[in-house]
Amino acid sequence: MVRQNLVPENIYRIRHATVMKGIILAGGSGTRLLPMTSIHSKHLIPVYDKPMIYYPLSSLMVGGIKEILIISTSRDLPDFQELLGSGSDLGINIQYLEQESPRGLPEAFIIGKEFIADESVALILGDNIFHGGSFREKFNECRLRTEKFGGANLFGSYVEDPERFGVAEIDSSNNLLNIVEKPNDPQSNIAVTGLYMYDGSVCDRAISLSPSNRGELEITDLNMTYVNEGRAELSIFGDKTIWIDAGTPDSLLKASEMVRMVQMNGGQTVACLEEIAWKMGFIGDNQLRVISEKYDSNGFYGSHLGSLIN
Ligand code: G1P
Repeated sequence: MVRQNLVPENIYRIRHATVMKGIILAGGSGTRLLPMTSIHSKHLIPVYDKPMIYYPLSSLMVGGIKEILIISTSRDLPDFQELLGSGSDLGINIQYLEQESPRGLPEAFIIGKEFIADESVALILGDNIFHGGSFREKFNECRLRTEKFGGANLFGSYVEDPERFGVAEIDSSNNLLNIVEKPNDPQSNIAVTGLYMYDGSVCDRAISLSPSNRGELEITDLNMTYVNEGRAELSIFGDKTIWIDAGTPDSLLKASEMVRMVQMNGGQTVACLEEIAWKMGFIGDNQLRVISEKYDSNGFYGSHLGSLIN
């Protein structure tokens, strides 16, 4: 008789029974970062000591998301595949699909319709970096709310330059009233960050959008379909959660400085994917040991991973 060892498998499922899928949108031509992006994706440019895409990927992983789709251009997809593969080293599953040309963020839900398969989904922009404070708690709270009740759960952050972003208007009870994309005359200094959670109806909503004046589908138009139905909530990060859209030379440098400061002074790592995978129980001690040996020659990264097991 063949003995079936069902117990560990079941425990694993119960610990990580996350329904939500995750999409990282890492397309576009990165014109604001030229000439750095002349020959490869901005999402592969280092943010201090790791490729930029590590950061959004880490955000999905700390939220327990293991089914991940990376959308990028035909030029850049092979690089992402070489870097991250199937995700098995991290105990996750990564798929890849192409966005032929930058037709706007909501196109992620048209390209990813089959992947999403009517489940709830989190979209994170490949240049958005979140760290610290109650990020993980807020992410999980909103994930559960989306999985259970549907609708859209958006994340806001107070900024000094709201005209660069989608800007949220809220009432005194924090209800989301309106979002305006890159307004000349912002009604608040709350930016809608590049992390969005939606129910499975998002694909049909994206298909029914019309392009804006600049010829793209706009994420703000998509969000407004939920706002107009009273089905969108905005969670605003507090001071301790750092959010950086690293899409310009200055914000890229700011992001690198932030990561360096946290790692050097705070004694914490930022977006160390293997550490997160291990802490989340996606990989075990042996797999972490093998990976840490691969990084042996890199002082900080390798020794940090090794120290986790020891
Ligand atoms: C996009 C969205 C904007 C959002 C921002 C967050 O802007 O259109 O609503 O606030 O991401 O990073 P983009 O970075 O494409 O200018």
